Amino acid sequence: MTLKSTMIVDKDFKLAEVDPRVYGSFIEHLGRAVYGGIYEPDHATADEQGFRRDALEAIKSLNVPIIRYPGGNFVSGYNWEDGVGPKNDRKQKLDLAWWTTEPNLVGTNEFAEWAKLAGSEVMMAVNLGTRGIDAARNLVEYCNHPSGSYWSDLRISHGYKEPHAFKTWCLGNEMDGPWQIGAKTAYEYGRLANESAKAMRWVDPTLEFVACGSSSSSMSTFAEWEATVLDLTYDNVDYLSLHQYYNNNEKDSPNFLAKSLDLDQFISSVAATCDYIKAKKKSKKKIYLSLDEWNVWNTIGTSTAEQRWQIAPPELEDVYNLEDALVVGCLLITILKHADRVKMACMAQLINVIAPIMTENGGPLWLQTTYYPFLHTSVYGRGTVLHPLVTSPKYDSKEFTDVPYLESISVYNEELSEVTIFAVNRNLEERLQLDIDLRSFGNVQLIEHIALANDDIKAVNTKLDPNNVVPQICGTTTVDGGHITAQLSKTSWNVIRLKVNGE
Ligand code: AHR
Repeated sequence: MTLKSTMIVDKDFKLAEVDPRVYGSFIEHLGRAVYGGIYEPDHATADEQGFRRDALEAIKSLNVPIIRYPGGNFVSGYNWEDGVGPKNDRKQKLDLAWWTTEPNLVGTNEFAEWAKLAGSEVMMAVNLGTRGIDAARNLVEYCNHPSGSYWSDLRISHGYKEPHAFKTWCLGNEMDGPWQIGAKTAYEYGRLANESAKAMRWVDPTLEFVACGSSSSSMSTFAEWEATVLDLTYDNVDYLSLHQYYNNNEKDSPNFLAKSLDLDQFISSVAATCDYIKAKKKSKKKIYLSLDEWNVWNTIGTSTAEQRWQIAPPELEDVYNLEDALVVGCLLITILKHADRVKMACMAQLINVIAPIMTENGGPLWLQTTYYPFLHTSVYGRGTVLHPLVTSPKYDSKEFTDVPYLESISVYNEELSEVTIFAVNRNLEERLQLDIDLRSFGNVQLIEHIALANDDIKAVNTKLDPNNVVPQICGTTTVDGGHITAQLSKTSWNVIRLKVNGE
């Protein structure tokens, strides 16, 4: 018996424009993300600034509009002044977030240069752990002020005449977490974030700010933290952050594949909390959401005793299988389902550290399974989210009830007259037939149906076998006027691209 699901996609069911920044990512001074990832001066592909060209090309293909930097937990102990000026004068410092040694060979200016090459904006984070208003406003002056002040002239003397013009700034990182250097109560953080934002905006009125929400929905202070922080910062911030990682450490695939339902609930709860403070303040302003760390993260623990105080030891180098890629696909679909509220999202991280791209020091680069759903949504998921009417058989798992086997969303790119349907079949044994009704678009044409599948959901890509799990064209999809019938293989990620009549 074939399992069947249906979808009606109508051009009038507009949810919201996709903010391209939902396809953002994150590079932290952690493990081999910077050193050995984007920067390796001795590598065969290195450019004159020491950046790996192979890494840059793989990142450019992902078309990442914004990259968060320099942390993460790292930023809460970082003195940004250590990373600017002549490289020979820079000092090595201990990084207490990850217990490594930071060589400071890449800092703000080098990262700004690299981000330009990658075609990405920088989402800059300031240290509100060990530091505060003064270091933050000086950094804005250094980065964004044209000239004629101490810090802007210092930037110019370092060889960067033009201001970096960073627009989006994170006010600290995960300040609710006891693991954070300089962790704070919601009240302490809210006051500091508010005063920092005020001063930073007095230096550059064009800035927009992200205040720290909870480190995850499982924090005991979740929701109360959000409410208190927003109460103290409402008029001076624009976004509230969410961080969320999922793992399958319990080895329960049906439950793991349903984790995006948790993200869906998390986003709705944070939006509701923002609106509660909006109502309380009788404000007209709406706070948007920045899901600026999300991913599957299976490895437990951090550096080993032998790695302690090394420079860029391998850390959090998760090897992702097909199942992980399907969860990443479901999380991306969930982000799109909240396109009206989530305006930025950063897959954490981009390279070598819980990342879709892996490199070997002095060696090759390969793409993990999770690279592909991110690539497909980033490239084809631009335009307007159309909220589809979906029916699907369902199942119950340990944590979730009524989990649809079909997870899906559709995006209409009016400029290109294309509709793209992203769909995951969560079923571990059966294929799922998907009947799509696109009647409002008249006759449609299939451009392609791309699928990521494998008989073994634990299949991975490695340096020695980099093409074990790669997207294939699915040839069985049929079109009849405005109706499409697609067969979604068991546990598969699918991208159905259609040319439509945009009239
Ligand atoms: O992305 C890895 C770490 O996860 C970040 O440094 C931190 O913000 C989060 O806990």
